[in-house]
Amino acid sequence: MKLTFFLALFSFGASVLAASAADWRSKSIYQVLTDRFARTDGSTTAPCNPVGKYCGGTYQGIIKQLDYIQNMGFTAIWISPITYQIQTWTPYGQAWHGYWQQDLYQLNSAFGTADDLRTLATALHNRGMYLMVDVVVNHNGWNGNETSVNYTMFKPFDNVEYYHNFCNVDYSNNTSIQECWLGDSNVELVDLRTEDTVVAQEYQTWIQQLVANYSIDGLRIDTVKHVDTAFWAGFEEAAGVFMTGEVTNGDPYGLCPYQNYMDSVLDYAMYYAATDAFSSTAGSMSKFVSQLNGMKSQCKDTSVLGSFSENHDQPRFASLTSDMSLAKNIITYTIMSDGIPIMYEGQEQHYNGAEDPYNREAVWLSQYNTGAPLYTHTASVNQIRNHALYVDGDWLTYQNRVIYSDSANVAMRKGDDGYQSITILTNSGASSANYTLNITNTGYDSGTQIVDILSCEALNAGSGGNLTVSMSQGLPRIYYPVELLDCSGICGY
Ligand SMILES: *[C@@H]1O[C@H](CO)[C@@H](O)[C@H](O)[C@H]1NC(C)=O
Ligand SMILES: *[C@@H]1O[C@H](CO)[C@@H](O)[C@H](O)[C@H]1NC(C)=O
Ligand SMILES: *[C@@H]1O[C@H](CO)[C@@H](O)[C@H](O)[C@H]1NC(C)=O
Ligand SMILES: *[C@@H]1O[C@H](CO)[C@@H](O)[C@H](O)[C@H]1NC(C)=O
Ligand SMILES: *[C@@H]1O[C@H](CO)[C@@H](O)[C@H](O)[C@H]1NC(C)=O
Ligand SMILES: *[C@@H]1O[C@H](CO)[C@@H](O)[C@H](O)[C@H]1NC(C)=O
Ligand SMILES: *[C@@H]1O[C@H](CO)[C@@H](O)[C@H](O)[C@H]1NC(C)=O
Ligand SMILES: *[C@@H]1O[C@H](CO)[C@@H](O)[C@H](O)[C@H]1NC(C)=O
Repeated sequence: MKLTFFLALFSFGASVLAASAADWRSKSIYQVLTDRFARTDGSTTAPCNPVGKYCGGTYQGIIKQLDYIQNMGFTAIWISPITYQIQTWTPYGQAWHGYWQQDLYQLNSAFGTADDLRTLATALHNRGMYLMVDVVVNHNGWNGNETSVNYTMFKPFDNVEYYHNFCNVDYSNNTSIQECWLGDSNVELVDLRTEDTVVAQEYQTWIQQLVANYSIDGLRIDTVKHVDTAFWAGFEEAAGVFMTGEVTNGDPYGLCPYQNYMDSVLDYAMYYAATDAFSSTAGSMSKFVSQLNGMKSQCKDTSVLGSFSENHDQPRFASLTSDMSLAKNIITYTIMSDGIPIMYEGQEQHYNGAEDPYNREAVWLSQYNTGAPLYTHTASVNQIRNHALYVDGDWLTYQNRVIYSDSANVAMRKGDDGYQSITILTNSGASSANYTLNITNTGYDSGTQIVDILSCEALNAGSGGNLTVSMSQGLPRIYYPVELLDCSGICGY
């Protein structure tokens, strides 16, 4: 009797504790393509040709590898779309990635059952981690050209009246971007009339159920700029959880306005600038700094943007350079700047697939090597971020500030006086000679003992908080006050 009462109370409590943008701000996200991350059988040898075919990843597989994710310091995962897809072989292979939806109310059974998905949500919540699910509302997938679409196959939008007429997207015309069809005559992405009340309301009903049925904590929204902007407010309210949207726009003036329509967008502007700055020793640090300042001046709230340097749509960083120091710098940037860090599965293994589909390698083939250099590096950087935000809640909302830059180095401060991290990034590369940087405006009191948590080398701030920093092998540094590290386990403190 009592037990039933408490269970009922608990499940009620769980369903009303919807995670907001403020809750997500402190999270760090690992992006999972369900088909390519882990198999139920735990195989680390099952072959996976990235071109086209299902490779066998499942929700049960993810559950078995949650230690691998959590031990890297991540506190949330984003999984690829969960809905029913095109079932047949297309000229681009199978719909294992999940972006060719046909039925909103059925799950993609390749990844497991509804119970498996619920078990994954529970396993995450038991660890204090969040579940983010990728959601597509712009289109349905059709294996064929525009003249052959069988609208009755789509659920619940089973009639041509719910869709825009066919046209190819003209990227110089905003109406065309929202109304015309993505895809091509091999696989068309049949574009929904999200501006129609009947479509918008059906989507609201659906997302409310989806979030409740699977205890979802947040949503990643696909192809946001191809949907009318008025759609989002009602959808976000119905979902009742944090949303971050994909808006591929490298211009702060084009990207930031989307924060008027939803909590957050993936920070494509910094993705492009950081990739350019860190993928070569000739990359532009000045453009990186001006982009960083542009985002701060144009965006409503940089602290909830999705901060990433790889995803499944872009060539992997290691396809641009094999330099391990550069790889460490860009990861350090995404975790220690403003925003919610997002790392794409396989980045920690230095996977180097280039364009889609080659950037979608199976993670199990790495044997989940927790000794890989970028695995341990990511764990260290997430650890200091998790610690800094725990020690001082304001660390997250303090806007990251560039306090020093030259053609190859940038120093950034984040955190109030006494609680600040100073992150030093460089694109000088692994084979660069040692050099010294003199960093001012750190805000540290003179004599403050700080430590680079990556090398565990301690340093005292000089007069006025000035730092004389030795740089070696093109590695980044993250300084943090030693007295705040008590009992953290970081660098033995
Ligand atoms: C469209 O697809 C149908 C069915 O496969 C085919 O008969 C037709 O020729 C195609 N039309 C164009 C313009 O490619
Ligand atoms: C269209 O799809 C419906 C529902 O799946 C099916 O019953 C019907 O046979 C299909 N029509 C054609 C022409 O393939
Ligand atoms: C923009 O695209 C829309 C939708 O395809 C079209 O109706 C309109 O004529 C286009 N406008 C211009 C100026 O090309
Ligand atoms: C949610 O669960 C209910 C009850 O099982 C079911 O009727 C509904 O279709 C589900 N909705 C979604 C979007 O999964
Ligand atoms: C198209 O949209 C972009 C970004 O939302 C905006 O900056 C631009 O002014 C719009 N262009 C036109 C012609 O409305
Ligand atoms: C940096 O500081 C060191 C030690 O104080 C000094 O020798 C060096 O000249 C300074 N370098 C620059 C570029 O200011
Ligand atoms: C800090 O370093 C800067 C640049 O080297 C120098 O101008 C300034 O005087 C130093 N401040 C103190 C208090 O030593
Ligand atoms: C560069 O610095 C590293 C660590 O600070 C040191 O181990 C190494 O010997 C230095 N290399 C040179 C060429 O001075």
